[in-house]
Amino acid sequence: MKRDDHHEYSDELEKSNPMSKPAILITGASTGIGATYADRFARRGHDLVLVARDAARMEALATRLRAEAGVSIDVLPADLTRADEIAAVEARLREDDRIGILVNNAGAGLGGRFIDQSADAITQLITLNMTSVTRLASAVAPRLTARGDGAIINISSVVGLAPELGMSVYGATKAFVLFLSQGLALELGPQGVYVQAVLPAATRTELWGRAGADEATLPPMMDVNDLVDAALAGFDKREGITIPPLHDGSLWDAFNGARQAMLPGFGQTQPAPRYAA
Ligand SMILES: NC(=O)c1ccc[n+]([C@@H]2O[C@H](COP(=O)([O-])OP(=O)(O)OC[C@H]3O[C@@H](n4cnc5c(N)ncnc54)[C@H](OP(=O)(O)O)[C@@H]3O)[C@@H](O)[C@H]2O)c1
Repeated sequence: MKRDDHHEYSDELEKSNPMSKPAILITGASTGIGATYADRFARRGHDLVLVARDAARMEALATRLRAEAGVSIDVLPADLTRADEIAAVEARLREDDRIGILVNNAGAGLGGRFIDQSADAITQLITLNMTSVTRLASAVAPRLTARGDGAIINISSVVGLAPELGMSVYGATKAFVLFLSQGLALELGPQGVYVQAVLPAATRTELWGRAGADEATLPPMMDVNDLVDAALAGFDKREGITIPPLHDGSLWDAFNGARQAMLPGFGQTQPAPRYAA
């Protein structure tokens, strides 16, 4: 997929001066994709702030990574669906000048059919997958744009492009994350902040069990290490959109090109002839 040339990022500086490596705040870092990002970024020499609810799991990961990678790691337990707890994470993103990259990864699935999903479960999913992602990006963006560099990685999903998969609310939250990332890339990119949306397909993590999926009906899965390594290859190329399972990247370019071709039409003040009474 095409690199977005708007995105200038100080990776050359970072490689030449290890002291300049920014710290990275990763949400959903207790397991799965987030814990794998923590492992990879620690091995690249970045200090980390790990956020999730399970403090003990994050402490165990932090202890291992401090020993193996020699980086400094803070554990910041928080339930991102609780206003009082996300506030502490927002404050950290606003105030800690060492943090230059946010990995907005915490998220959940929601099993069952739409007609069987409760309003409370839907609200909880939207609060985690949409509200928390947006609030954390909003907390860090002013500081990153003021200093003219940094990055926000948002974990979306191919489900956000595929209503056919029958996960309507989950997919809608992930379409939101994709759109938000595209919009923020346009808004923040010219000010030196790189925004990446990562769209995994089915990846072997605890997400499926947590969402109540039936083991017997699970699709074939990508290994989480392969997923994160591919996502980081996209990050290193400064791709705006990274879809690790999509082998023919030109399909995304064609899709996005078709969307952009519609834009001039949205300025028409007369209804299209096909809607003539
Ligand atoms: N696995 C897939 O097939 C797949 C495919 C496409 C996209 N994704 C996306 O990838 C991201 C990571 O998913 P995963 O597969 O790694 O899932 P996972 O293994 O279930 O991990 C989810 C992470 O989010 C944290 N989390 C959940 N609820 C939270 C809350 N209320 N507050 C704070 N942290 C919370 C969990 O930690 P605690 O329980 O300790 O809080 C955990 O660290 C999600 O956004 C997901 O939608 C996954």
